[in-house]
Formats: sequence, C-alpha cells, structure tokens
Amino acid sequence: MTGVEVDDVREGEVLVDVRGVKVHFPIKRGLLIDRTVGHVYAVDGMDLTIRRGETYGLVGESGCGKSTFGRALLQLEDLTEGSVTLGGVDLATLKGEDLRKQRRHMQMVFQDPLGSLDPRQTVEQLLLEGMQAHGMASNRKSARERLVELLAAVGLPSGALTKYPHEFSGGQRQRVGIARALSVDPELIVADEPVSALDVSVQAQVINLLENLQEEFGLTYLVIAHDLAVVRHISDRIGVMYLGALVEEADADDLYAMPLHPYTRALLSAIPVPDPVVEDTRERILLSGDLPSPANPPSGCRFHTRCPWVQASRCSTERPELRVVSVPGAPASHKVACHWAEQIASGELQPHAVEGQVVAPLDIPEPAPHGVPGSTLLPED
Ligand SMILES: Nc1ncnc2c1ncn2[C@@H]1O[C@H](COP(=O)(O)OP(=O)(O)OP(=O)(O)O)[C@@H](O)[C@H]1O
Ligand code: SF4
Ligand SMILES: [Mg+2]
Repeated sequence: MTGVEVDDVREGEVLVDVRGVKVHFPIKRGLLIDRTVGHVYAVDGMDLTIRRGETYGLVGESGCGKSTFGRALLQLEDLTEGSVTLGGVDLATLKGEDLRKQRRHMQMVFQDPLGSLDPRQTVEQLLLEGMQAHGMASNRKSARERLVELLAAVGLPSGALTKYPHEFSGGQRQRVGIARALSVDPELIVADEPVSALDVSVQAQVINLLENLQEEFGLTYLVIAHDLAVVRHISDRIGVMYLGALVEEADADDLYAMPLHPYTRALLSAIPVPDPVVEDTRERILLSGDLPSPANPPSGCRFHTRCPWVQASRCSTERPELRVVSVPGAPASHKVACHWAEQIASGELQPHAVEGQVVAPLDIPEPAPHGVPGSTLLPED
C-alpha cells in the first residue's frame, strides 16, 4: 500500500478515485474528409482522491482544463486514458442503463444558472425531471413534499415552484440549480465555478449555503474555481492545476501557509492583503506570458516557460511527478510537482529577477523544542 492510501483510509473513506485521467480532443481539418491534425491536451494526467464528506477545491487559470476534468469525472466527457471510480465502482466499465443509474449519485452545479436551466420549464418541472428519471417521483404527494423541502433547504419559498428561471435573481437561480442537483439525493456534487457569475455580495451566501447543505445531507464536493480566494474557506483540500495536471495538492491551510510550487506562489501573490504594511512588503511574483496553448504544451515541466526559478537542468526535459516533498513542516499530504521544490523552499535556489518583482525565501517554521519539525502547522492535540 502506498502512503497516499494509508492516509486516505485513516482520515475517511475514499469516495472518488481518479487515476491517470487524460482527455485529449482531436483537432480536425479538411473540407471533405476530416483529418486529425493534432490534439488539445485539455486534461493530461490527473490523479486525485476525494474522501467522503470532504470538499476538494480545484483551481487554475482559465483554459487549464478544470471544467473538462469535472465533466470527465462525471463521465460527461470520454476519457482518452485513465480511470474514475465512485464508491468503488469503475465508471468507465458502465454503459447505458447502468451508467444512467449511477448518475443519480453524482450531480453538477454550473457556473451559469440561467444557461443551465431550461427557460420553458417551471421550477417544479425542473426539479421533478431528475427525480422522475430515477423513479423517485411515483407518489405525487410525497414528491411534492420533497420539492417543498428541497426549496426550503436552499432558502427559497414554496411559491417558487410555479415560477420560471427568468423570474429569479442570479443568486436565486443558482439556488434553483443547487436544488435540482440535490433532488436526486446525490453523494457527489461537482460545482463548476458556482459563484463566479454572481455579484460579490451574493457569492458568500451561496458558498455558505453549499457548506450548510454539505453538513445537512452528508455531501462530498469538488468545487472548481479560477480564484484561490473563492475556494479558500470552503475547501478541506486544494489542488492547483496547470495545463491539464496538478502541480500542487495540500490541505487548504497548509497550501496557504506554505505554497511550495512556483505557480501556486505566483497565484497567491496576486491576492491583495488588506493590511497596508503587509501589502507593501509581501512577495509578488509576476509571471511572464500567457498560459501556453494546451494544443502545444511545453516539454518537461509544463510551467518552465513562465517559471521564475526555471533551471537549465531537468526543467525543460523531464516532466515532474506530483510527489511528497522533504521540506521541514510539510506533511505527507502536501504534494508538489517540481524537481526543485526543496531547494526553492530553503532559498538555495533564487528566482531570476523580473522587473518589479519581490520574491522572498519561504518562511519555514523553526523545528519545535521537542524536535517535531514544523509543529506550528499541526493541530495541538
Ligand atoms: N469539446 C472540446 N473540443 C476541443 N477543445 C476543447 C473542448 N472543450 C474544451 N476544450 C479546450 O480544452 C482546454 C481546457 O478547457 P476547459 O474548459 O476545461 O478549461 P477551464 O480550466 O475550465 O477554463 P475556464 O476557467 O475558462 O472555464 C481549452 O483550451 C479549451 O478550449
Ligand atoms: S520543475 Fe523547474 S520549471 Fe517546473 S516549477 Fe520547478 S523549477 Fe519551475
Ligand atoms: Mg471552466
């Protein structure tokens, strides 16, 4: 058994197990006969587990493959390679009716609630649709009671049942979208940018709602966002994605306290700090250039074309594995895909100067008096 599996068993049963998942879209050209002239490597080697009852936050820049991964996880996208198991069931082996039945256990909440809700259906019809498909609405009276309960759970009055999606505000529509996902009593919800289309004032309410529902219904979440600030409070663990694969994964607190991958450090350094003194002196890492095209990803470490710490050896030739690193204070749950993570964390390797950039060595905690390295990051029990 690997260290990962031991951790997973200790801390909670694994609900979702993703191994080596790739989704490559063919690029077709030709007037009469479609020829495949290349591929978009949208997801290119994702491995992760999500434990029952936890919230896994997946973040990364626009176009890095987050939505494609979420869709692949729910079998809404064909896998080019790899496997996804949900509750021990290998989803790729299911076809037709078996896959349809399994879908009840995994639902999606979308970024754009208006676009994802049929404008011609009332809320009642929208919520009943999934329940009917899974044989959960055969008794009209109990189905209606369930609809009213669902609306109450997401903070909408029962009068909403007869209304159409356009009659609601953005936040209310997202509540309808969440109620629809909940209607079939799923175990896993993939929420793809659930608040990014909403006003800032409403975002926190929807995030709080998701948290409360998780507790009430024992849900497991994969929350996708392009912004680390959005997933910070809701996530137990966070994975940072760059060009189709994870570059760092850690418990949420550990990731913010000690980001170890240069890309994560750059993402975090872009979030302003309200304290003006800290704001003036904090680390700022400016990345040069845009995200490279996933149709033509860089060799070796995919981040090497933008990495301020890029080295002449290994970076452009060898793709780094996501691995546990030996950095003082970093627990075994903290994994990084960088050949030089240890040397970067210790300050032995320094970033190449970019104008206007302030990069400080990581503030690694001193070993505790009783010899437990980095014990300031561990719970005091
Ligand atoms: N059906 C498809 N056919 C071809 N290319 C696709 C398809 N779906 C997505 N892509 C490409 O795959 C890459 C990843 O797209 P994806 O939508 O998964 O990114 P994302 O991280 O969710 O971005 P965003 O934050 O903008 O939502 C992009 O380059 C996108 O253009
Ligand atoms: S492997 Fe090299 S290029 Fe990639 S993140 Fe590490 S230092 Fe940067
Ligand atoms: Mg997306």
